Amino acid sequence: MFLEKMLQSQGFGSRKHCQQLIKNGAVAIQGEVISNVKHKLNLNDLTFTVYGESFDYREKVYIALNKPQGYECSHQATHHFSVFDLFDDVLLNRGLQCVGRLDQDTSGLLLLTDDGQFLQALTHPKKHVAKVYRMHTADPVTVEQIQQLEQGVELRNEAGLFAATDVMQLGDNELQLTIHQGVYHQVKRMLAAVGNRVEQLHRQQIGGLALPELEEGQWIYLDPVQIDLAKQRMAI
Ligand code: URA
Repeated sequence: MFLEKMLQSQGFGSRKHCQQLIKNGAVAIQGEVISNVKHKLNLNDLTFTVYGESFDYREKVYIALNKPQGYECSHQATHHFSVFDLFDDVLLNRGLQCVGRLDQDTSGLLLLTDDGQFLQALTHPKKHVAKVYRMHTADPVTVEQIQQLEQGVELRNEAGLFAATDVMQLGDNELQLTIHQGVYHQVKRMLAAVGNRVEQLHRQQIGGLALPELEEGQWIYLDPVQIDLAKQRMAI
């Protein structure tokens, strides 16, 4: 691949802008400044610098963020911050998208990618990718509520029953459960349907991928094993 094309693919702007960067001597590979826009590259394990900042070539990006509360999963956040504020322009230029959404007041594991197939594989309703949530509830959780959640509840304007699996009481007002769909406000609505209320919600796992050790607001690139884990289907 030509250097100008590679830079463009990595989010460094238009072809013209990438050509300008190269001509300005801003781009180096293994310490050598390359000023030929048509310099041919081997993309395997390629690292390069732009104005001294180092980048690894990535065909696609797969990111795990520990989303803090108070951030919306939309580009045009209206009343809160946007999760996209946590990423630099080079990543945003690649067309980073959230893999499903978390409410602004929900924290925890949020995946982001520029790979449409990955996004589809994780969010398509027929894929039933499991999502594990922990929550603090307004009222103590009862045995009846757990049974109802396991059996399935109706949600207004949604067809069918919504059931949780692996429901575990972690404390009087602390609950963990797994859902296999992803309709709007699903967990909060399920808890409301059994007569309780979610006060704090945190996503702990997607597919087989648990939230990596990250401070709130921190993120990492997923490696190939973690990408596969996220897609993994768990028994329903
Ligand atoms: N269910 C909810 O109610 N909110 C979320 O953010 C995620 C799942």
